[in-house]
Amino acid sequence: MKIIKTSALAAAVIACLPAAAEVSVTIESAKPGPVISKYVYGQFAEHLGTGIYGGLWVGPESGIPNTRGWRNDVVGALKALHVPVVRWPGGCFADQYHWRDGIGPRAGRPVRINTNWGGVDEDNAVGTHEFFELVEQLGADAYVNGNLGSGSVQEMAEWVEYLTAGGKSSLAALRARNGHPAPYKVAFFGIGNEAWGCGGNMQVEQYAREYRRYASFVHPASGNTQFIAAGGHDDDTGWTDYLSSKVQGRLDGVSFHYYTSPGADSQGKYGALGFDEGRWIATLRQTQRMEGFIANNVARMDQHDKQNKLAFVVDEWGTWYDTEEGSTSGFLVQQNSLRDAMVAALNFNIFHAHADRVRMTSIAQMVNVLQAMIRTDGARMVLTPTYHAFSMYVPFQDATSVPVRLANNPQYSYGDVSIPAVSASAARGKDGRLYLALVNTNPRELAEVAVDIAGAAAASASGTVLTAAAMDAHNSFAAPEAVKPAPFAATAKGGRLVMKLPAKSIVVVAVQATTP
Ligand code: AHR
Repeated sequence: MKIIKTSALAAAVIACLPAAAEVSVTIESAKPGPVISKYVYGQFAEHLGTGIYGGLWVGPESGIPNTRGWRNDVVGALKALHVPVVRWPGGCFADQYHWRDGIGPRAGRPVRINTNWGGVDEDNAVGTHEFFELVEQLGADAYVNGNLGSGSVQEMAEWVEYLTAGGKSSLAALRARNGHPAPYKVAFFGIGNEAWGCGGNMQVEQYAREYRRYASFVHPASGNTQFIAAGGHDDDTGWTDYLSSKVQGRLDGVSFHYYTSPGADSQGKYGALGFDEGRWIATLRQTQRMEGFIANNVARMDQHDKQNKLAFVVDEWGTWYDTEEGSTSGFLVQQNSLRDAMVAALNFNIFHAHADRVRMTSIAQMVNVLQAMIRTDGARMVLTPTYHAFSMYVPFQDATSVPVRLANNPQYSYGDVSIPAVSASAARGKDGRLYLALVNTNPRELAEVAVDIAGAAAASASGTVLTAAAMDAHNSFAAPEAVKPAPFAATAKGGRLVMKLPAKSIVVVAVQATTP
């Protein structure tokens, strides 16, 4: 009841705010661009804190309802997002992971120390077979990240043989004895992670040599696994440049990592909640740097890969704040607010604009860690605002991008920082409908947007809006639906839609048009 009152108040406040001049959005629906791969909506699950243990995996004997160890509530919620691919087991953890620790009867598996994340015991309850059970339950593809940092060529080659071989291979027989006679489908295989840091502190020349050596011996039986090299981060283009020019042959994509941080406030905090407008705009500006990072890296890739064979794989992205007070050190637990949903939507729009090269991403991370979809506490689960952003954008998976022209788009400014007020993206969905996503970054003013469809007359639009009264509005176990999508509709006048985007909102609509 309290929530309804708050929303009603917010709507009233929004309605009273003055509208700026109309922002013009023209959808060039007759000029289709590249397909937005469904893999752009990928997820990352690492052996880190409660990202897997507790958050997703509870084990078959748990009192928490599960299917072969995986939580029914969490898997059910993730299925609604049509998660296309899951990256596992890391991250930094990938380069300390030895796959033989995670096969065979669970009681007999060794316990190792997770030196990357909190120094906790890793009992290897989740190993190869459990991970593939998860992706099967989700209906997702597997992105397995191999260990280049502390493993060996032989170990990696044998893991891939274990995963994919049939016939008389002894490793295939071992897989069958462990419960899975049929080979697994490994859609993507990563060779190392952050080789410039936790993956071995290498120079790019050294990593490229290692990559070529590993890739020479790793042979997935099915032959259609895509190989991803561990690339650079932030404003560094050197790794993309070097890898795409010097690694020929078995290379299908180069990875890239960029985390959004708001920068410290006057108390030196990078808080997930309780931030002011200065931190709001700083975060959104920081996240929009992704546009330039992708453009610069893709420009390097274009120089060396004229056939557009290589993918630019943003396999870690999202917000990174101070960890939640009272949470376990090294577990990277943070709250997730409306601001995170905005970050997600702004990044989706950027990824769509680069759909020809950005063919896979994975947000860090799926459950309980960094910018998560879902938070859990024991048997309880709550969906975050980021979950809702992913859910609203589902129609963009495998949709055909459509150019959007923005005019009269004001800057939203606060202090000495300015960013465009509106971000937009459009695509023709697999269902044939025309989808439009709009983000109003201004937390104080609504944006009035006039939408035209080039060569057609817009008739109406319907979909959902995500907004809230406070910049740091979030869902908690006590109030799990404080931030959730609400219906949104607009009708056209003279073939033009006028849409009022509430302050700090994301709107995704299907646009109906009539051809002249
Ligand atoms: O997502 C958390 C960590 O961030 C990953 O393990 C690592 O690759 C990155 O530095």
